[in-house]
Amino acid sequence: MPRWNAEKKQAYRTEVIQRITAAMPSIMQEYASINWTEELKGYRTDHEYYPDYIHAPIHGISDSYTNSQSCLSWDAAMDAIIPLSHNVSCQQLREKMAELIPQDIEIETVLELGAGTGGGALALAQRFPQATFHITDVSPYMLVIAQHKFNKLGFGHRASFEQVDARYTGYPDNSFTVVTSSLLFHETPKEWTPKILKEMYRITKPGGWILYADTYRGEYALSASFQEPWLDDFIHFNFEYEFAKAGFTELKYIPYAVGLWYMVGRKLET
Ligand SMILES: C[S@@+](CC[C@H](N)C(=O)[O-])C[C@H]1O[C@@H](n2cnc3c(N)ncnc32)[C@H](O)[C@@H]1O
Repeated sequence: MPRWNAEKKQAYRTEVIQRITAAMPSIMQEYASINWTEELKGYRTDHEYYPDYIHAPIHGISDSYTNSQSCLSWDAAMDAIIPLSHNVSCQQLREKMAELIPQDIEIETVLELGAGTGGGALALAQRFPQATFHITDVSPYMLVIAQHKFNKLGFGHRASFEQVDARYTGYPDNSFTVVTSSLLFHETPKEWTPKILKEMYRITKPGGWILYADTYRGEYALSASFQEPWLDDFIHFNFEYEFAKAGFTELKYIPYAVGLWYMVGRKLET
């Protein structure tokens, strides 16, 4: 992929910001009914709770997951970034990922880690109507938005929303039929990524599935224009090796569209 010059990067960044700004009025209207003070009750919002790296200037904005405004703009940001290179919405990426699990498989429980606004679980909720969902993230703001979305689509009764750190979730061994996540590891420092993978393996049921999606591992528009503090760690991380090292088998690394990729795998039946 050709390297982008400074002018092209700036033009790209400007276009993305314009798209997000244009989308914001309808987003504010969509989520206007959220009473943040009420919804945040029971969650931790103190600076100390979050992993240190969350406070870094991810996408050039410090603490972007620890306030409602930037979390509300998340879906618009993803949709603004992805159509520029892929001509699909971000949710289509999740729908394609959900299709990697055959529809005739019995799925009881799904855990989404670093769920953000819950798009991965939402796609699985549509594909597997009998499954129940644990939507988790360290950011309570993301969880409030995810819950709003699930309720709106009538899936709220099938889901719980839990403030969980993916590094040490606290769930018992062998808890979930599917453990899924997306766009998490390009934002985690390299010392944490293998630990999170091990944790994912530990809490997946024998015979269960891992589903993961992330972004291009090279210089490309998003990384070039939107600061990603741990991009070098991500680029040099050998995901096929590390998913296998965590214990997963039947692994498939699947390129999706320009730069985006999936990993699907299983935890062996014992
Ligand atoms: C780039 S966003 C991706 C959100 C969502 N998965 C998606 O695909 O749109 C990364 C998310 O991971 C969350 N996160 C980062 N580190 C985490 C951790 N250690 N445990 C749980 N969530 C984490 C952030 O709060 C944020 O919501």
